[in-house]
Amino acid sequence: MICGRGSLARLGNLVDDLSQGGEVFVLSSPRVWKLWGRAVERQLADVRRDRVILFDDREAAKRLATIEGICRKLAHAHADRQALLVAVGGGVVGDVAGFAASSYLRGVRIVHVPTTVVGQVDSAIGGKTGVDLPEGKNLIGAFYPPQLVLADPSVLRTLPARQFRSGLYEVIKYAVIGDKELFAFLERKFDALLRMDMRALEWVIERCIRAKARIVSRDEREAGPRQVLNFGHTIGHALESLTEYKIFLHGEAVAWGMLGATLIAVGMNRLGETDASLIASLIARCGSLPPLPRISSIELSRAIASDKKSRAGRVRWVLPRRIGDANIGVDVPKKVVAMAWRELPSFFARACRSGRT
Ligand SMILES: NC(=O)c1ccc[n+]([C@@H]2O[C@H](COP(=O)([O-])OP(=O)(O)OC[C@H]3O[C@@H](n4cnc5c(N)ncnc54)[C@H](O)[C@@H]3O)[C@@H](O)[C@H]2O)c1
Ligand SMILES: [Zn+2]
Repeated sequence: MICGRGSLARLGNLVDDLSQGGEVFVLSSPRVWKLWGRAVERQLADVRRDRVILFDDREAAKRLATIEGICRKLAHAHADRQALLVAVGGGVVGDVAGFAASSYLRGVRIVHVPTTVVGQVDSAIGGKTGVDLPEGKNLIGAFYPPQLVLADPSVLRTLPARQFRSGLYEVIKYAVIGDKELFAFLERKFDALLRMDMRALEWVIERCIRAKARIVSRDEREAGPRQVLNFGHTIGHALESLTEYKIFLHGEAVAWGMLGATLIAVGMNRLGETDASLIASLIARCGSLPPLPRISSIELSRAIASDKKSRAGRVRWVLPRRIGDANIGVDVPKKVVAMAWRELPSFFARACRSGRT
């Protein structure tokens, strides 16, 4: 794992060392390649143009047909077991390329160069790869650890502002569930982060990578402690699916989800009011959120129960206990969920107001 401003300039040497004579293939999307292809090509000067495989990185293209397309291109180019794939892009590119790497010839090596906040702090770490089915997101995939992850915060500067902010909610998640020092840093430096101050960004990304790696190393197949990463995702996933992935960016849905879980934790006397308002204030500093859909808490609960992370209909909530610590696998009575759902908009509005005064 390599993280740091300017680390992209080390890609060439690192790939040389890793490839050991094996053919190098680059997997990316047209959009990312347009922005960063030249810089990557400078590093991988020996990689021929026909070894660069570009594919659509819209969520709608994160499906098996794309894997087939990539594998066929690899086969045409006679990629063998010694091949090394270099995935350059956001979470979609990483998930798709990772799954292609896990299955082409039953596995070829891969290096991830994540280019979004989510990619750098989340999807490139932990070895989960996969694609969606019409029946649901990420339903097909494999655990497939890469040879190397190279996260250079400088590549984030071309991200659209909304994408960038959406990624920061996942950063806030790491702070709340397990790192109060990170939380304090975010409180001090959030404005610098929003301005994309590279020093602050580098510090934060490295910290999140370490947090995720620590959590994942204790639980590679997601049986126990890794569930803590699901903070904010119980309501978040439900919001995304109820709105057919059209209204919220993932991080924005997670932001509402974290606010909801925070309210629930207070409602169940598991979290103090002061910590709850600090969490909400930090989320509010990240900016406005698309408003919640006008649905009943019954519809919300139904969507929550049908998530693949709930086992046999039992929803396992992750609730903050204090800043930097959370409980997993908590049962929450429906009426507490209903209370939180009712209170959510005003809870967030209060946090936004308090930030302005
Ligand atoms: N494997 C995991 O553990 C894991 C974890 C979290 C998320 N994910 C997956 O990741 C995906 C979301 O990833 P994401 O949030 O990175 O979004 P994304 O990959 O959809 O990228 C968002 C947009 O930003 C563009 N982009 C990427 N890098 C850019 C850059 N540097 N400058 C400008 N534009 C750039 C992309 O082309 C795309 O249009 C989802 O499919 C999700 O399921 C996987
Ligand atoms: Zn997430």
